[in-house]
Amino acid sequence: MSIQLPKGFTWGTATASYQIEGAVNEDGRGTSIWDTYSHTPGLVLNGDNGDVACDHYHRWEEDLDHLARLGVQAYRFSVAWPRIQPLGAGAVNQPGIDFYDRLVDGLLDRGIRPICTLYHWDLPQPLEDAGGWQNRETAYRLAEYAQIIAAALGDRIDTYTTLNEPWCSAFLGYASGAHAPGLTEALAALKAAHHLNLAHGLAVQAIRAKVPNTKASITLNLHKVRPASLAPEDLDAVRQIEAVGNEIFLRPLLEGCYPSDLIADVADITDFSFVQDGDLAEIKQPLDCLGINYYSSSVARRRPNDSTSTATGGHGGGSPWVGADNVEFLDPTGPLTDMGWNIDPQGFTELLVGVSKRYPDLELVVTENGSAFPDTLEADGSVHDPKRVAYLEWHAEALAEAIRLGAKITGYYAWSLLDNFEWSWGYARRFGLIHVDYGNGQARHWKDSAYRYQKLIAETSAS
Ligand code: FCB
Repeated sequence: MSIQLPKGFTWGTATASYQIEGAVNEDGRGTSIWDTYSHTPGLVLNGDNGDVACDHYHRWEEDLDHLARLGVQAYRFSVAWPRIQPLGAGAVNQPGIDFYDRLVDGLLDRGIRPICTLYHWDLPQPLEDAGGWQNRETAYRLAEYAQIIAAALGDRIDTYTTLNEPWCSAFLGYASGAHAPGLTEALAALKAAHHLNLAHGLAVQAIRAKVPNTKASITLNLHKVRPASLAPEDLDAVRQIEAVGNEIFLRPLLEGCYPSDLIADVADITDFSFVQDGDLAEIKQPLDCLGINYYSSSVARRRPNDSTSTATGGHGGGSPWVGADNVEFLDPTGPLTDMGWNIDPQGFTELLVGVSKRYPDLELVVTENGSAFPDTLEADGSVHDPKRVAYLEWHAEALAEAIRLGAKITGYYAWSLLDNFEWSWGYARRFGLIHVDYGNGQARHWKDSAYRYQKLIAETSAS
């Protein structure tokens, strides 16, 4: 494999606080909605939780050494809001700040640029008790927290990302129930989506007020959906999924409006009166780059009248596809990853090129891409993961192809540095380049895919 990339292209890896840190009761950390969710029997596979996770809170130096050895130029991590404000508002917990302060300096000492996500799903529980993302106030709390982080970490951060995948926070958290806080109410999800958009806009302004020259961004998991046929109703099914999966964020964030077709699709649920005068102007802030997470694609069609299928893409009870009850997804065709997701590098290219055509001036960064497969740790410490290696190579090629076709992409972050707590799948799904031996002192072992990534970075960064 030989790929061409623009000079200065950034390779990195990504992680998220609750998935790796552990130490949930240390140094004044408060409780998050994921502590509550994972400790509720029956919600997470095998009853797993993030209490210990990869113990990164204590092993962060070793983990940064792995990053340095991989040769990445940047590292995308997230801050656990409950470490900074245990109650989600007001008083700052200094030991929480100190942890990220050390982490950021540790990255800079190793020549690695820190990319900081403010919110990767661990909402302080007291805010959820007051309505969580259904409550407009939460947007203002995120802005306050953003200001605290910007003041503490300042311009040592290369890029601040306000939110990770607000679609998941809103629609898996409040409509399907597959994620914390586990509600299944369509209206709650739509309100949450708007308040997340508002939170983003307010947070960008708070960050820029503190650190005027920093880069500000948001990460979306844009859905790549194909129609099952060219019949008008199947094309319309795709439009519906794109409306509530992508446009509900893209349009307000980048164009300052909600799409009229979305408003019509969900008219039975809401009249959007939760959008107040001035909100859209607050939301549409200039962005230095847009983060895109991509794993797989799907095929949608108009649900036939006699269909008994209720599988519309969630495993928490409800459907995340609010306003699209008359849409169904075809079963993915193999080979599949351990998540049951298809492998579609062509879809990756198409998605990136499509977004770049639509917003030609906007810099794009692939903030997550990766695959889960079962791994075996051999007696000699090796982990042979040919499927993950192939997934990585195919997607690196697809990325290069998107750039060749004109997409303005400046970075790629492999998900993930380490095996970790994969939300409602617990530790039963492994996405790491580096294996974590949970039962055996949390030992880290490089998988073949880590060596492959190291080589890819070296080959493409030298020129
Ligand atoms: C994304 C999340 C990330 C991880 C991957 C597999 O949706 O942002 O935390 O769980 O999926």
